[in-house]
Amino acid sequence: MVRTLKRSTAVSQIFAPVAGPGPVPVTLRVNGQVHRLGLEPRRSLLDALRLGLGLTGAKRVCNLGECGACTVLIDDEPIYSCLTLALECQGRAVTTIEGLAADGTLDPVQDAFVRCDAVQCGFCTPGQVLAAKALLDDHPNPTDEQIRRGMAGNLCRCGTYTHIVEAIRSLGDGRSGGRVGEAESGQGDQADAGPAARSLRRSCAREAADRRSPGPDLPPLTPASHLGGRR
Ligand code: FES
Ligand code: FES
Repeated sequence: MVRTLKRSTAVSQIFAPVAGPGPVPVTLRVNGQVHRLGLEPRRSLLDALRLGLGLTGAKRVCNLGECGACTVLIDDEPIYSCLTLALECQGRAVTTIEGLAADGTLDPVQDAFVRCDAVQCGFCTPGQVLAAKALLDDHPNPTDEQIRRGMAGNLCRCGTYTHIVEAIRSLGDGRSGGRVGEAESGQGDQADAGPAARSLRRSCAREAADRRSPGPDLPPLTPASHLGGRR
């Protein structure tokens, strides 16, 4: 299941100096590389990745925490990068789909998606793969129920759910049981997603409502180069 970053309520942070509103230096570690950017504090991690670093694997679809196309890993936990401020990710390890294959060899999860034909248009696939990777880290031999719950935050408009479940199950040891057809219909069924997933939805919906507040489209990002660029 895709999560949002936990926010600290430490008093020292509540009264910390306000950053911005103009660009401030932000250092991100993405796929093992350190990048220095100049970002307005309101920038999402998704904007920083796509517009600041040119890493376009994470997709901006709903931008509201509802589809999972923007999923990346923060310290190996899946999060919606559209709902996460880039500033919050300093000092953490960010993994995007671009960081998964090593030396031209696909990650086993990517390989399973190809092998099981779990891709149609491919737009949701980067988020699906990263969510599946986190799920398999937690549950090396997931049941269909665990797959359903773990992937509940990632929607696929092409309806490849059956094959996605097959791909994830193929990476376990086959002991999980359950029928693919059950998992297929459960992907978008929040009533079946369990309290944790429903609570996540509510939390995301609240943040999404905040982000719907009126405002002009964001201007282009400040080029990274003036603060040192990539390293
Ligand atoms: S783009 Fe982030 S959840 Fe849809
Ligand atoms: S493969 Fe097209 S949206 Fe999932």
